[in-house]
Amino acid sequence: MPEHDPTSRGRGAAIAAAEVADLPEVARLADRIWREHYPGIIPMRQIDYMLERGYSIARLSRFLSETGAGLAIASVGGARVGFAAWERDGPGTTKLDKLYVLASAHGRGVGRTLVGHVEAAALADGSATLTLRVNKQNASSIAFYRAVGFGVDAETVEDIGGGFVMDDYVMAKPLRRAGGARA
Ligand SMILES: CC(C)(COP(=O)(O)OP(=O)(O)OC[C@H]1O[C@@H](n2cnc3c(N)ncnc32)[C@H](O)[C@@H]1OP(=O)(O)O)[C@@H](O)C(=O)NCCC(=O)NCCS
Repeated sequence: MPEHDPTSRGRGAAIAAAEVADLPEVARLADRIWREHYPGIIPMRQIDYMLERGYSIARLSRFLSETGAGLAIASVGGARVGFAAWERDGPGTTKLDKLYVLASAHGRGVGRTLVGHVEAAALADGSATLTLRVNKQNASSIAFYRAVGFGVDAETVEDIGGGFVMDDYVMAKPLRRAGGARA
């Protein structure tokens, strides 16, 4: 497989680069996944606030236009079940900004395939590290990130306005080129 194949496949999930016409669908997927996953982790009002802030078409468009950024959609059997978005985060570092899979598709390797796609894109952009932030109460996703090679690097509390904070772990994964050499 080429290092950054925009239509890479893995364990049944097809990954394709998102286009502008796909962005409303990405926002709808986010709405479904956030409302099924985040209750009990963050308050409903914060879910509304963060969806509005993070999933406007203008915000999502930046992942399609900025250098070193990207947005990919995962499909299983032709149905769109998840997506990942990433961007540069300083020299040599790419941030996995969004990773979401519908609950009905969990546990089939879709998340791992999406992370692999982002790793390939980050390496192609010259990054040596992939980072992310995950809510400290999001135990299932923290377990997933550990399973795919991330470790906790730091903790961060950010005031995001509206009376809300993000209370997160920063996790990181060193990237390796094919053959085992570190990037
Ligand atoms: C986190 C998420 C993307 C994982 O996607 P997924 O498709 O279910 O994960 P995969 O099937 O690819 O799992 C990959 C590995 O992680 C492990 N894993 C996944 N969820 C796990 C869990 N809850 N506990 C322990 N391990 C887990 C799997 O066992 C698998 O290991 P293996 O490949 O060695 O068998 C998905 O669960 C999700 O969208 N969650 C809700 C949204 C969210 O919180 N996103 C992250 C925001 S920071």
